[in-house]
Amino acid sequence: MASDNEFAVETRATNITWHRPAVGRRDKEKLLSQRGILLWFTGLSASGKSTIAHALEHELYRTGYLTAVLDGDNIRHGLNRDLGFSHREREENIRRIGEVAKLFTENGVITMTAFISPFRSDRDKIRASLGEGNFIEIHVKCPLEELQRRDPKGLYKKALAGEVREFTGISSPYEEPLHPEITLDTSLLSPDECVQALLRLLREWKVLNRCASPGGAGNATANIAPRSPS
Ligand code: ADX
Repeated sequence: MASDNEFAVETRATNITWHRPAVGRRDKEKLLSQRGILLWFTGLSASGKSTIAHALEHELYRTGYLTAVLDGDNIRHGLNRDLGFSHREREENIRRIGEVAKLFTENGVITMTAFISPFRSDRDKIRASLGEGNFIEIHVKCPLEELQRRDPKGLYKKALAGEVREFTGISSPYEEPLHPEITLDTSLLSPDECVQALLRLLREWKVLNRCASPGGAGNATANIAPRSPS
């Protein structure tokens, strides 16, 4: 049993029973005419995870897909405001996000998460929990020198000066994915090139079945062909 100053990861409650929903995942996917999937962006701070996720979301919205982006800095203002950056707190941060992302995905939403998520074992647990075909790991890679040059929030500078402790890539580790579904090097690719690469991947994975329409989401929905649940 965990002591009181640790986060509960085991199920502590007793006398709880799983309620089987009357409307299932496939029903919702059919309603939305899309497939729920989790796109897990991982990479160092300022590598471009959020930029790419939001640009992809915009592109998918234009073609009539329902998406959700969970973003590290934003979630740490609300759901995970009680968490800092120790190893244990990052683990809990990612565990909670994994659970929330799973809920979205199982409700038929194309879900994107943009968190450093530095530990391989945490990411692998979410991959296992979502199951084969539901999880795409996207390694957003960029050399540290380039990240320090970008430094949009001034955090690399502060970390190097010892003013921010346990900063990923400087004074806290980042474990690169061993087998990501895709790696995007943002020192070589523009955000748009990254989005195009992801759209290709999503087509290969049969997540996208609609034609792009330049007229926006309203027009694009005309191209939606209802898909039978599989
Ligand atoms: S994670 O490691 O737990 O996955 P998360 O993605 O939620 O991190 O948050 C990272 C963001 O928090 C960074 O982009 C940066 O803006 C901010 N941040 C503040 N302190 C740190 C730190 N010590 N290490 C990394 N990021 C930090």
